[in-house]
Amino acid sequence: MKKIIKNGVIVTASDTFKADILVENEKIALIGQDLSDPGAEVIDAEGHYVFPGGVDPHTHLEMPFGGTVSKDDFETGTIAAAFGGTTTVIDFCLTNKGEPLQNSIDQWHAKSREKSVIDYSFHLMIGEINDAVIDQLPSVIEDEGITSFKVFMAYKNVFQADDETLFRTLEEAKRLGALVMVHAENGDVIDHLVKKALQKGNTDPIYHALTRPPEAEGEATGRAAQLTGLANSQLYVVHVSCQEAVEKISEARKKGYDVWGETCPQYLVLDQSYLEKPNFEGAKYVWSPPLREKHNQEVLWNALKNGELQTLGSDQCSFDFNGQKDLGKGDFTKIPNGGPIIEDRVSILFSEGVKKGRITLNQFVDITSTRVAKTFGLFPQKGTISVGADADIVIFDPKVERTISVETSHMAADYNPFEGMKVTGQPVSVLSRGEFVVRDKKFVGTLGSGQYLKRARYGDFKLSSQEQLTIK
Ligand code: URP
Ligand code: ZN
Ligand code: ZN
Ligand code: ZN
Repeated sequence: MKKIIKNGVIVTASDTFKADILVENEKIALIGQDLSDPGAEVIDAEGHYVFPGGVDPHTHLEMPFGGTVSKDDFETGTIAAAFGGTTTVIDFCLTNKGEPLQNSIDQWHAKSREKSVIDYSFHLMIGEINDAVIDQLPSVIEDEGITSFKVFMAYKNVFQADDETLFRTLEEAKRLGALVMVHAENGDVIDHLVKKALQKGNTDPIYHALTRPPEAEGEATGRAAQLTGLANSQLYVVHVSCQEAVEKISEARKKGYDVWGETCPQYLVLDQSYLEKPNFEGAKYVWSPPLREKHNQEVLWNALKNGELQTLGSDQCSFDFNGQKDLGKGDFTKIPNGGPIIEDRVSILFSEGVKKGRITLNQFVDITSTRVAKTFGLFPQKGTISVGADADIVIFDPKVERTISVETSHMAADYNPFEGMKVTGQPVSVLSRGEFVVRDKKFVGTLGSGQYLKRARYGDFKLSSQEQLTIK
């Protein structure tokens, strides 16, 4: 059914204006003043912002990791995402050496297809590169629309790839029109520091942070950036946590290298001291890279403000404290890395960023939605409010004050890392391709209604209808 969203303040990455939106056939059909249509349901957004749905570039839903499987799957994870104002997720598809890439992609389709309540896409992990892998990449791009490849520079003996693999992936990505993503930490050095810590009997969660120092992230980030320059390719550094890494990204960009950087809410508002919480509670705050000393937060905020970092990912990868995180009692290396973030990503950036004057409202939309869609070949189908775009829309109350808690969260894990944090602002209603997924803070979506998104090649636009924008 047609809908008109009336009286809201529409915010895009570039503009803020009061107008009505006509939604028809899953798309934004018209934006204008005093719209009316006898066949349309009217939704009053007076006193609310109207944002394009958030695009989360970094999730790990139902992912096998650390001897267990991340708790939120495509059902709970995408429902929570929608409550939090996110209407598209790009999840990491893991691969196994020597196996056809398509097997992994098919597995990821199988676990998402009947569950996702919002649209979704995949990045593909590259763990090795050889003729067989290179032969498969064109179909990954053309048939699956997967135009971003992920290389891990850490997690030695698990996911870690060597520099040759990274470099050749950068070369292939350049040739084929894909973006290379890196988890940038020096896995070899970390492995050595971890062994030394364990030998000394240092097994508490805090040693997770102390054995993954910021220099190890800075070094890997700089190395990846240099290799990108050498290959004349394109790079996106995920979950940037510290000054050392920001500096390397900034340096590369100043040289004209095509290098992008993402940070995550946890690095903006939490710090290393959380890993020292008593009764093993520090395990709740174990991410890789780890939470950093507090002074890094200001560096990250400034980098978002001045464009040295461009996007915010959740790095959603949740584990229960009881039964999963506690696998690492007595040995921090066995604590599964990651946390439940997907629901709070947008609200934390609004509250801590916009409300506290660190970034503008338009930057907030860019960082959580528009820039992500552009970088990953989804724009302008996703990431903006414009005629012809998918009607992925968030009606947001900028005034409500609330406290983040596991009690009110829709994520499946048994704790929330932001427990007790006061935030201002909350999505009230969320539409995915013109249908409500969340209405007046209640879930009204349908499992499996989310569609798989094939993405455009790096640098290309994703048009809903190619003819629309062709001038003959
Ligand atoms: O600790 C983290 N970041 N867990 C998820 C996997 C990854 O490295 O992104
Ligand atoms: Zn990572
Ligand atoms: Zn420091
Ligand atoms: Zn991740």
